[in-house]
Parts: sequence; C-alpha cells; structure tokens
Amino acid sequence: MNINDIDTPALLIEKAKIKDNIIKMQNLCNQKGVKLRPHIKTHKMPSIARMQVEAGASGIAVAKLSEAEIFASEGFDDIQIANIIIGDKKIERLFHLNNKVRELSVSVDSFEVVSQLNKRFQNSGKEMNVMIEIDSGLGRSGLKEKAEIFKLAKAIEECNGLKFKGILTHAGQVYSANTFDEIRDIAKYEVSFMIDIAEFLRNNGIDTLIVSIGSTPAAIAYDLLNGITEIRPGNYVFYDMIQVSLGTAKLNECALSVISTVISKPSNDRVIIDAGSKALHTDKGAHGNDKIKTYGYVLNKTCSILRLSEEHGFIFHNGEEFKIGEKVRIIPNHACAVCNLFDFAYLIEENEVKERIEVSARGKVT
Ligand SMILES: Cc1ncc(COP(=O)(O)O)c(C=O)c1O
Repeated sequence: MNINDIDTPALLIEKAKIKDNIIKMQNLCNQKGVKLRPHIKTHKMPSIARMQVEAGASGIAVAKLSEAEIFASEGFDDIQIANIIIGDKKIERLFHLNNKVRELSVSVDSFEVVSQLNKRFQNSGKEMNVMIEIDSGLGRSGLKEKAEIFKLAKAIEECNGLKFKGILTHAGQVYSANTFDEIRDIAKYEVSFMIDIAEFLRNNGIDTLIVSIGSTPAAIAYDLLNGITEIRPGNYVFYDMIQVSLGTAKLNECALSVISTVISKPSNDRVIIDAGSKALHTDKGAHGNDKIKTYGYVLNKTCSILRLSEEHGFIFHNGEEFKIGEKVRIIPNHACAVCNLFDFAYLIEENEVKERIEVSARGKVT
C-alpha cells in the first residue's frame, strides 16, 4: 500500500531512518564502552525495542509498571523501571512481575518506599533489585546529598527482600539548553556528579554495580564515560522537532511523522487538516524548552500549524497551494507524546507501507 492510501491521521515510521538512528546510537555506546539501555517511553512498541536489542542494547528502561508488564509479556527479560513504585496494589503487581522477568529493577528515593517494598519482598524467594534515584539537576524526584544516599543504600542492603544495584539519574534539564556547549556542560556535570556518588558509596563499603544516566541530547554530547555503566536515551530512535530545535538532530534524521488530510480551505491563508491535538499533541517542549512556536513541521511546505483543536489542525500559509483531500506529513514536536496517541504505526520504505506495528504500551499510566 502507498502511504497516500492510508486512512488519516496515521503514524508513519521510516524504516531506513529508524534503523540508522538505532545503529548510530549503539555504535556510539560501543565506542564509549557503555551499555545502551534504550528508554521505551518514546515508542512503546515491542517490535521497535526488539530492533534495539538485536542491534546490541543490553535491556530496556520503562517509565511505568504497566509498560514493564506489557514488555515482559512480549519476552523482554531485562527491564529497568526508571521510576518510583508505591502502594500495595502496584507492589503486588511488581512482585508477580519480578517472578517472571530475569532481571527487573525499580527506583527509590525514600525510606518509606524501601520499607513498603521490603514488606512484600522479604522472605519471598526472589529479591527485588533496587536503584537509588539521584537528582543531578532536573529538580524532579531523587536524592542529591551523599550522606542521605549512603544512608538509604545502607538501609536497602539491610533489607532481606531487596538488593541494592546502583544509582540512576536523568538530567532532563538538558532540554532547557540554548547552545550545544550548554548541553555538553550539563552532560559533563551529570557524569561527574554520578561518578562522585558511586565512588563515595564504594569507598564506604556499598557495592554499586550500576551507574545509569541519560537522555537523548546528553547521549550525543558525552565525552568520557569511564565509571558510567549504561546510558538510557529514548527519543533518539525517532528524534523530533524538540531535538531539531536543540540542535541534537537534523530534520532528515526524524523517523516519525503523522500523515494527515486537508479537509477544508476556508480562506486564502488557512487550511484545516484532520490532525488536531488527538494526533499531534499540544506539547511544544519540556523543562524550559520554549523555542518551538508551532505544532510540528509540515514536510515539503513553508506553512505553519499555529493552532490545534482536538480533531482539527489550523495551517496558516502565504498563498501556498493546497488541495482539498491532499495528504500532508508532519514531524511532531514530541515523538514520545505522539506515539501515546495511536494504536498502531505504519513502518514504511520510501512511500510504501511494509508493516503495521502495534503501539502495545500506549496509554499505560499506572
Ligand atoms: C528517567 C528517564 N530516563 C531516560 C529518559 C530518556 O530521555 P530522552 O527522552 O531525552 O531520550 C527519560 C525521558 O523522559 C527519563 O525520564
């Protein structure tokens, strides 16, 4: 099927570009001597994660327990939940998942969560692997102070149901950078901050096996990674207009697009497409990235999508020719948020559909 025969709006993935993006990031990690643990929050598609693992990824990272459950049921056996899991209901699910998955870990940053986890996992046969989340400048969850981190690690070591594995951070403030030098500085800080903590823990008798860091902008900017064991970029698999605006990807590296149809030409400077916020998402950037003024980039046109309602996109132009029924392709601002909106995506080569793939872990919020 040609992409022009697809019912719209629909999600397209360019096979050649995604393969390239996966291989380039894997090569980068191989050269730097770190493992690559891609964060699947970007695509939420087991078939894409399989491509990443086949290229050499050591395992996957997820943001939600429900994402971990989906990927475990698809046979993934090394899963890091890079988030804090709390409450009896979730911990019960975590317990069952831990018995299914060869290598599973979860993040903590408080004694309360450590104690909740240990209550369920103590004397239960298989220990739960635990990572301490570190705040390396994002100001989200995570600990900063070495003494506190040490105390929490010690408490985990003393829990019979838990195994302290290491430390984890995401320096997401990198998305607020204005220049590549700023990205490099944040990446450098993330690395040295984590190495310092890992050394402190080891010097104080805490076995710290994993030092896990990462984001897509930083992944491209890291210099030396001695002392870091793995990085967890996610967005690199597709890239998007946020990465283009940061200078961390080129437009022609963006592998994900939304195809949409012109449904109305109400005036000389405006056309309406069938992709609104339900297909393109309103996201223009996170963590202080406010460089983007439109709702995605329309390929091969000079127009701008300046407004969205739920089912309609408002394209403004300077007399550019559009036909009713014409298909337009849009590189979204935030690929991760857009994948969450679709049940499936079309894998394409040139303009031909090769495969339809499920976004199996979309909408998984718990
Ligand atoms: C904890 C964590 N790790 C890794 C990532 C992946 O970063 P990126 O989306 O820049 O690839 C994210 C993204 O939000 C994250 O929250």
